Amino acid sequence: MESNRQAHLELPDGRRIALQEVRGVYGASGYDVSSLYRREGVLLYDPGFQSTASCRSAVSWVDGERGILAYRGYPIEELAEKCDYLQVCRLLLAGELPDEAEDAAFKRMVTRHTMVHQQVSLLLNGFRRDAHPMSILVGLVGALAAFYPLDRSMSEQEQHRQAAVMMLAKMPTLVAMSYRYSVGWPLVYPDNSLSYAANFLRMMFALPVEPYEPHPAAVKALDKILILHAEHEQNASTTTVRLCASAGANPYQAVAAGIACLSGPRHGGANEAALRMLDRLLAEGGVKAIPDFIRRVKTKDSGVRLSGFGHRVYKSYDPRAKIIRGICHELLDALGLKNDPIFELALELERIALEDEYFVERHLYPNVDFYSGIVQRAIGIPTPLFTAIFAMARTVGWFAQKNELLESDELRLARPRQIYSGEALRHVDGKRF
Ligand code: ACO
Repeated sequence: MESNRQAHLELPDGRRIALQEVRGVYGASGYDVSSLYRREGVLLYDPGFQSTASCRSAVSWVDGERGILAYRGYPIEELAEKCDYLQVCRLLLAGELPDEAEDAAFKRMVTRHTMVHQQVSLLLNGFRRDAHPMSILVGLVGALAAFYPLDRSMSEQEQHRQAAVMMLAKMPTLVAMSYRYSVGWPLVYPDNSLSYAANFLRMMFALPVEPYEPHPAAVKALDKILILHAEHEQNASTTTVRLCASAGANPYQAVAAGIACLSGPRHGGANEAALRMLDRLLAEGGVKAIPDFIRRVKTKDSGVRLSGFGHRVYKSYDPRAKIIRGICHELLDALGLKNDPIFELALELERIALEDEYFVERHLYPNVDFYSGIVQRAIGIPTPLFTAIFAMARTVGWFAQKNELLESDELRLARPRQIYSGEALRHVDGKRF
């Protein structure tokens, strides 16, 4: 939004520099410092980008204080309740929810591309069977650039729009392939008559020797999990993908970089870490083991963190965690797992943590990863695959963000500066300059 307001930066040498306000629809104002170094030779220092807005974006909005997340203006609660995942994908990519005809056309387009080149399975065979699925996924997605060359007669923007559909269509196939390879099962081809989530579950769990029908509650829960993980503004992996796109990288390779970033335990890998933590606690005595665990978490030099708790942006309850907690109840009931000990333990851990001064003072609440592993496990998804499911869901957000950048007049190579803290110039023979 246009603004005539300015802030002023006063430097020790007396210079007073006017900075133009950049206002959004909601949230904190920014001040334009993009030409500060060029004009004044001054850098801003912000490790971890804690106070830096790297772009203007219309894709999603997070209000961390009030616990609000909206995609293209629609609250996540309504999207999870009223839409399916591919409708949300169309919303994120095109900016509006599809009408009936657009919905059908988009779904037709995605289902046309669900197969992957047969040679991809040869590539898969080169991996060790015990490799982590995220490592395999980074390799397979990056390799798509070699299998699906871009149509150079199209504009760069058009190539990326087409790649978005291809990638959305192929991600479930690739994730399921990585899983089946690790357990030594034959690969199952996609079934385009099924919904996105049902097709994925079939590719994951169907065996050639018997009929397979995914449980409707599992399909519904997975579809919601995909919606809730589809987009989350300028997080670490999205920033990685935007950065790659700013350099003109191939869309598949940009997404592969996003997957690599997402795999970290401080980011998407936290869902796996959270479930492993709950498993460990259960083995150590369940609810009885919580007080000692909380004590260790609070002891800084123990290096133990409560996985699935805390968030850089949310300083209140992550709205996604609240919805996923509800999905846990619904799904576990439907599957006859009402008294699931892991879920009971998670609920109790949350209760105890939220009454503890340490967590209250620091505004640490459950994030999206705290309960999502419980849903995924109930569906039958093995723990090492959790982050790959997250990557599958987030692919659309990465594309929506990357394509927004490529289509904006803000597009330029992303290149942060640094404050150099190393050795002064010196010669290899030990002499000083
Ligand atoms: N357990 C214990 N203490 C925590 C936790 C946690 N999960 N999270 C933050 N803290 C404490 C920190 O020790 C720090 O305490 P201090 O002020 O006494 O030094 C304070 O809270 C602030 O934490 P920071 O790490 O500075 O906050 P930041 O915004 O950088 O970190 C992060 C956010 C990385 C998500 C952090 O909360 C964390 O490590 N959580 C666990 C991992 C996790 O669940 N990640 C998933 C995030 S959601 C996502 O990426 C999809």
